[in-house]
Amino acid sequence: MVASGWIPTAYNRGGHQRAERERSLASAPGQPKPILSIRDLSATYAEQGAILPVLDRVDLDVGEGEFVALIGPSGSGKSTLLDIVAGLIEPDRGEIRLFGEIHAAERRLGRSAYMQQRDLLLPWRTAVANAALALEVKGVDRRTARDQATQRFIDLGLQGFETVYPAQLSGGMRQRVAFVRTMLGGQRLILLDEPFGSLDALTRASAQDWLLDVLSRDQRSALLVTHDVDEAILLADRVVVLSGRPGRVIHQEPVVLPRPRTRDMIASAAFVAARIRLLEQLGLVHAGAGS
Ligand SMILES: Nc1ncnc2c1ncn2[C@@H]1O[C@H](COP(=O)(O)OP(=O)(O)O)[C@@H](O)[C@H]1O
Ligand SMILES: [Mg+2]
Repeated sequence: MVASGWIPTAYNRGGHQRAERERSLASAPGQPKPILSIRDLSATYAEQGAILPVLDRVDLDVGEGEFVALIGPSGSGKSTLLDIVAGLIEPDRGEIRLFGEIHAAERRLGRSAYMQQRDLLLPWRTAVANAALALEVKGVDRRTARDQATQRFIDLGLQGFETVYPAQLSGGMRQRVAFVRTMLGGQRLILLDEPFGSLDALTRASAQDWLLDVLSRDQRSALLVTHDVDEAILLADRVVVLSGRPGRVIHQEPVVLPRPRTRDMIASAAFVAARIRLLEQLGLVHAGAGS
C-alpha cells in the first residue's frame, strides 16, 4: 500500500533524531533535483504464515543525471527495493516519487528501465530480437529497432551472435543482451540489479565503460545494485549502504573522484579511503584495523 500523505513512522514513534539523521542521509545539500525520491519505505514478505520484514523505513533519492550505487549484504532487500521502484510490487508503506509524481505500482511500470538480476530473455526470440524488444514495445518499427540493437551488440562484443537463441548463449552473453535491451528503451532512470555479476573481469570492465559512456552522453540517471565495492566507487556519484535484513540506509558515501572516471583511479587516495569506509560499513574490515 502507498500512504497518501507522508507521515514518517519514526516521528510517530518518537524517534525524532533518527528520522532527522536519515532524512539528511537521503540527499545531501546541493544535490540535483531528485527524479526518484523514496520516503519511509518499508516492505515485508509473508512466508509460511510468518511476516518477514525486508526493508525498514528507507529514504533514498536519485538526482537528475546522478549515478547511485546500492550495496548491502545478501538478503538486505536490494532487489526488492528495485522491484518496488519498477512497479512490480507495492511496499507496505512509504512514498515513491518518480519524475516528481507519486503513482501506485501499476503506473510505475515501464517508467524506468529495469534490468533484473535474472536475465529474463524470451527463449523464442533471437538475441537481437530480445534486445530490440525495448524499442518495439514503444512502437519503433522492427527493422529500425533491430538495427539499433545490432549497433549496441558491436559495442559489447556480441557481434556475430545476433541470430542466436538465448539457450545457446553463455550466461555472460545473455546478461549483455539483457543489458542492451535495458539501455535501448531510452528511459531517464535505469535500474540495474547486479548487471555484471557473471561477467569475466575483462568483459566486465568494458561493460562498465560502455555504461558510463551511455549514461554520460544521454544524461540518464542510474540506480545500480552491486556486490562489488570497487565497481560501486568507480561508477557512482554516491554509494548507499543498506544494513542486513531488514535493510535500512546506514551510510551514504559521496564519491569525490572527477569524471570521466578511469580505471587507474582505483589506486588514488580518495578511492582507497572510500573503499575502507564502505568495507567498514559492511562489517568486512574494522575501523583502525592494522593500526
Ligand atoms: N517473493 C518472495 N517471497 C518471500 N521472500 C522473499 C521473496 N523475495 C525475496 N524474499 C526474501 O526477502 C529477503 C530480501 O530479498 P532480496 O530483496 O532479494 O535481497 P537482496 O537483493 O539484497 O539479496 C531475502 O531474505 C529473500 O529470501
Ligand atoms: Mg538481489
